[in-house]
Amino acid sequence: MTTRLGDPPAPDLLDAAERLSAPQMRALQRERLAWTLAHAYENVPHYRRAFDAAGVTPLDFRDLPDLAKFPFTTKADLRANYPFGMFAVPREKVARIHASSGTTGKPTVVGYTQKDIETWSSVVARSIRASGGRAGMMVHVAYGYGLFTGGLGAHYGAEAMGCTVIPVSGGMTERQVQLIEDFRPEIIMVTPSYMLALLDEFRRRGVDPRKSSLKIGIFGAEPWTEAMRAQIEEAFDIHAVDIYGLSEVMGPGVANECVETKDGPHIWEDHFFPEVIDPETGAPVPDGEPGELVFTSLTKEAMPIIRYRTRDLTRLLPGTARPAFRRMQKITGRSDDMIILRGVNVFPSQVEEQILRVPHLAPHYQLVLTREGPLDAMTIAVECEPGTDEDERITAAQQLAHHVKEMIGVTAAVDVRDPGAIERSLGKARRVVDRRPK
Ligand code: DLL
Repeated sequence: MTTRLGDPPAPDLLDAAERLSAPQMRALQRERLAWTLAHAYENVPHYRRAFDAAGVTPLDFRDLPDLAKFPFTTKADLRANYPFGMFAVPREKVARIHASSGTTGKPTVVGYTQKDIETWSSVVARSIRASGGRAGMMVHVAYGYGLFTGGLGAHYGAEAMGCTVIPVSGGMTERQVQLIEDFRPEIIMVTPSYMLALLDEFRRRGVDPRKSSLKIGIFGAEPWTEAMRAQIEEAFDIHAVDIYGLSEVMGPGVANECVETKDGPHIWEDHFFPEVIDPETGAPVPDGEPGELVFTSLTKEAMPIIRYRTRDLTRLLPGTARPAFRRMQKITGRSDDMIILRGVNVFPSQVEEQILRVPHLAPHYQLVLTREGPLDAMTIAVECEPGTDEDERITAAQQLAHHVKEMIGVTAAVDVRDPGAIERSLGKARRVVDRRPK
């Protein structure tokens, strides 16, 4: 690595919350949780009904463990209150609406007051700083702009950080690379899968991606593995840092990795209170144990969210580079994306790790599920690198099938395709194609 970022920021660059001690953070969270529970109960009919049904009122919250008495909120609750039923302020106080696309049925709508937008911008600014970004740097934002929170969330955060923002949005891959060459940004914010599409375009143009101006990539909105991080860092000679978030809780910037440690995102716990639960029983598990991530907002005005079940699977870990905040282990998968193949649970990220071990295979892949008689079958459709010959393809397919059997414990067919044959997404990649009869 020729770039020499990765040093911790000077202490005076940290904001007040980043300097809190653990007891101070807990006290702040207690106070903010009490406010949020009361705000939700008093202003959102859904929460009043749900708390009443569970036999709790905001007064039952005295300390952090009491949060477990309160009911969960799910995506179905948000859909049932479409479009604005979850808002806790009059509609005129809502400065911005976002929505998540939702593969089936109605989208999930979220709202922000002006103060919520400021909070959001501040956590994204903190995320950019944690990634090694500094005021005055230029940021190329290739997350989609629009109802998706990625583009505008990154944009306002980068502005709040004092950066020069280039609001490119997703798509028009050739122009993206042209702009990177001409404007010379230091930072790019984009999904990791679309970064690979940009890599293809650099190579197609015969431009060495390692010589580009980019120094930092802030990648998120979809799972990506350590193997993918190594591949992107090597290809571009940049620091690849993980940003996590979800629209129901805020958008990007709920958690972000620190460039000096790259050991999983630190959760910005002054605004978002995390729990990990057993997805079957709903019981909270101790820090360090795996389960489903659940968030309660601490400061949101327009749409407070209580114990929202993210379906993301991770574990809570102690803070490192920012001891005031706990970390989450890099997300390996969502319960929605889990494939059960002959009794074995498989996540796309596990297959990704194996693909990246095999010479001549490119990190563009999809898992195609079919049914053969009573049993489900999986085919890994994966591209080869340009210039791979027939023998190399056959060997690569055999190696991948072997690794998948050995490391994940399932039998999968491997279909090695030509470069460019797997669908490219402009944002989040679609990793699972389900062709099983309904
Ligand atoms: O994806 C917000 C975002 C935009 C995050 C840009 C980061 C960068 P949604 O569309 O609501 O919001 O999708 C949220 O995406 O529950 C995770 O399953 C997944 N996700 C987001 N960030 C990561 C990440 C945005 N860093 C859903 N690693 C979440 C793994 C992620 N999965």
